[in-house]
Amino acid sequence: MNPGMPQKLSLPGVKQVVAVASGKGGVGKSTVAANLAMALHMSGKSVGLMDADIYGPSVPIMFGLGKVDQNTTPFPIEKFGIRLMSMGFLIGTEQAMIWRGPKVAQAVQSFLAQIDWGTLDYLIIDLPPGTGDAQLTLSQSAPLTGAVIVTTPGEVSLIDARKGVKMFREVRVPILGIVENMSYFTDAAGTKTPIFGVGGGMKLALESNAPFLGELPIDPRVAQCGDAGEPMVRKYPDAPIAKSYVALAAAVDAAATAANASGLPAVEL
Ligand SMILES: Nc1ncnc2c1ncn2[C@@H]1O[C@H](COP(=O)(O)OP(=O)(O)OP(=O)(O)O)[C@@H](O)[C@H]1O
Ligand SMILES: [Mg+2]
Repeated sequence: MNPGMPQKLSLPGVKQVVAVASGKGGVGKSTVAANLAMALHMSGKSVGLMDADIYGPSVPIMFGLGKVDQNTTPFPIEKFGIRLMSMGFLIGTEQAMIWRGPKVAQAVQSFLAQIDWGTLDYLIIDLPPGTGDAQLTLSQSAPLTGAVIVTTPGEVSLIDARKGVKMFREVRVPILGIVENMSYFTDAAGTKTPIFGVGGGMKLALESNAPFLGELPIDPRVAQCGDAGEPMVRKYPDAPIAKSYVALAAAVDAAATAANASGLPAVEL
């Protein structure tokens, strides 16, 4: 083990720990994480969602929650059947912006070590954008089954998503697959228009030798649902993107189960 490496924490009650990541900001990681967690729950799994974005927590807003009284509220907080933890519950979404590096790493570690997650089939971790210390610490200290990398179809997003893949590979966390978000918009006549480019997700999957988990369309209701505090897959289960989230959950479940069964050490350097 590397002397400088953060200690790997164990979560004995949690079967699979899956990080949702991308080197790139704003590609829809948090939205994918929330809907993936929700879709896994809707398929009968017990699920937790940990918001590792300490500077810009989005889980509270996406689940219609805010800052709570830590003295009287037990964590994680349960909403729609999912166990949630976020810095936004502790200090609000605005104040989180002023925190500094080491404190951030500590906060993420304490979410893993001190929160009683109980027994879970899945703990989904929503990572902040970038491939810096916060992401690295988490990838090394959380007992990750694997990572799902989110990208948008265009070349600019790919450059950063590639860095995300590289980071996980360096710490030997399996890439469960690549998901392409905001792939196309379908108009009222049924015509699909790719707004942000074509084929980036598949390209990244091929060059990284990782499974391609699928495309998620652009749907303005996704953003509305995020702001209104109820994940799209729960609010509009019949929408095409909701079906894509359900398919994504099944693909992630299959990939995570296979990764766990292969017995690969997640982080043994
Ligand atoms: N498929 C989609 N269709 C329409 N809007 C979407 C879709 N996916 C995400 N969005 C919207 O795009 C915005 C960015 O998404 P989100 O916050 O999930 O990205 P992120 O990668 O987590 O960002 P950050 O890097 O800041 O953490 C949000 O307003 C979200 O509602
Ligand atoms: Mg986010």
